[in-house]
This record gives sequence, structure tokens and C-alpha cells, in this order.
Amino acid sequence: MNNIIMRLENIQKFYKGQVDQLNILRNLNLSINKGEFIAILGRSGSGKSTLLNIMGLLDRANSGKIYFDDKEIKLYNDREIDRIKNKFLGFVFQFNYLLSEFTALENVMLPALVENYNKKIDIENKAKELLSSMELSERFYHKPNQLSGGEKQRVAIARALINSPQIILADEPTGNLDEETSDNIFGLFKMINKDFNQTLVVVTHSRDLANMADRRYYLKKGILEEKTETIDNFR
Ligand SMILES: Nc1ncnc2c1ncn2[C@@H]1O[C@H](COP(=O)(O)OP(=O)(O)OP(=O)(O)O)[C@@H](O)[C@H]1O
Ligand SMILES: [Mg+2]
Repeated sequence: MNNIIMRLENIQKFYKGQVDQLNILRNLNLSINKGEFIAILGRSGSGKSTLLNIMGLLDRANSGKIYFDDKEIKLYNDREIDRIKNKFLGFVFQFNYLLSEFTALENVMLPALVENYNKKIDIENKAKELLSSMELSERFYHKPNQLSGGEKQRVAIARALINSPQIILADEPTGNLDEETSDNIFGLFKMINKDFNQTLVVVTHSRDLANMADRRYYLKKGILEEKTETIDNFR
């Protein structure tokens, strides 16, 4: 398999402090193949969220290049960035950021409605199908405060999938869930990776989730180190 859909080249991110510069990412390189499941591990503060936010075009690197499908993204072009964010990328956060005034179904539909308001019926059907595949067919009309933590996270995953993104980026998607619910979400990631051939990049502290991935990287001192063996103790 050598079908690269996203590539990071010499990505640097730093913050200027009072005294000196804080280097978070130093000449970081990463290539992601279509259909791959990549896990990113690393200590708190090592820059995992920073990296994921840069990949998700939610934050900008100080230097370096990002390519999607071998085409460089012009990071200064806001229209191009918005289009790629909505069509190419799906994001799942640690805290799911569902909109509290909307039902589960509406939350999943929203990113697609933004693109294609006139296809409301098709979008609704697709959202229902996705929620059903996550065993949420009985929860379409629940608002976030009427859902459990794991259910909310599954709604967030369905929402990330609605525009059929090329890549899903997930930042500690089970960080605030109990072990059993986390296992359930891990199974779901495995399912969307295998059944939908969905490309996934997941930041996690979970050994179990990391060991399900095709490749595991440890972020340390601003660079990614690949771990070839499975992980039993990485903290
Ligand atoms: N706006 C900012 N200004 C200065 N430093 C920042 C800023 N934002 C983040 N940092 C620093 O960048 C480093 C990386 O933060 P990041 O959130 O990427 O870590 P992380 O690996 O995701 O950690 P965690 O596992 O705790 O979520 C941290 O040391 C943080 O203090
Ligand atoms: Mg983080």
C-alpha cells in the first residue's frame, strides 16, 4: 500500500516566551496512506494536540508544508482551508462539542447541511444510517444532555463521518470515558477503519487503542518516532 493522502513536511511550531523560544514541533515529517490507522502517543505537553490541530488546519505551523493528495495546501488561503476542513477532514475532540440546542440527528446533519442545504432529505437519511450503525437508532431525537458520555462521543464520530472525509483526526476520543465505554468506542474506530476503509489518525493514551493501529508514533522532543512493536508500557 503506497497511496499517500496526506503529508507533513518539516513542520515547525514554536511559541515565543518571555525569555526564550518554546519549540513544540521541530522539523516533523509524516506521510499517511489511504485507509491507514495511525496512533500518536506521547506525554502530556509533548505537542500531540498541537500536531493534530495543525493537521486539521485548526492551527498554523510556523513553517513547513502540508500536502493533501500530493497538492500543497496554501495555508494563507482561507477559502481553500475552509473547503478542505469541511470536505476532507473530520474531527473528533476529547470533549465532543455537540451543540446542546440540537438533537443527536441534527448535530450529525449540520456539517453536511452547511455544504448542501437543498439535499436535506438525503442528509437526514445518511445521518440516520450512521447513527444506526453506531447503535443509536433509538436516540435520534435526544439532545446532548439526554445522552450518556459514550453515546455523545458516538454522535460526535457520526458527525465526523457525515461528509465522508478522507481523514478522521481524533484527539483523545476516549479521554473522559470509563474503560468499558472506551472499549466500545475503540471497536467503533476499528469498524470504520476496516469496513469503510476510513483513514484515521488518533491521539491516545490508551495502549489498547494504540495497539489496534497499523502504525504507532511516539511524539517526543518535537519529532515523531515510529514504534514498530506493540506497546505494553509507554507512559
Ligand atoms: N498559546 C500557547 N502559548 C504558549 N505555549 C503553548 C500555547 N499552547 C500550547 N502551548 C504549550 O505547548 C505544549 C504542547 O501542548 P499540547 O496541547 O499540544 O500538548 P499535548 O501533547 O496535547 O498534551 P495533553 O496530553 O496534556 O493533551 C504545552 O507544553 C503547552 O504548554
Ligand atoms: Mg492534548
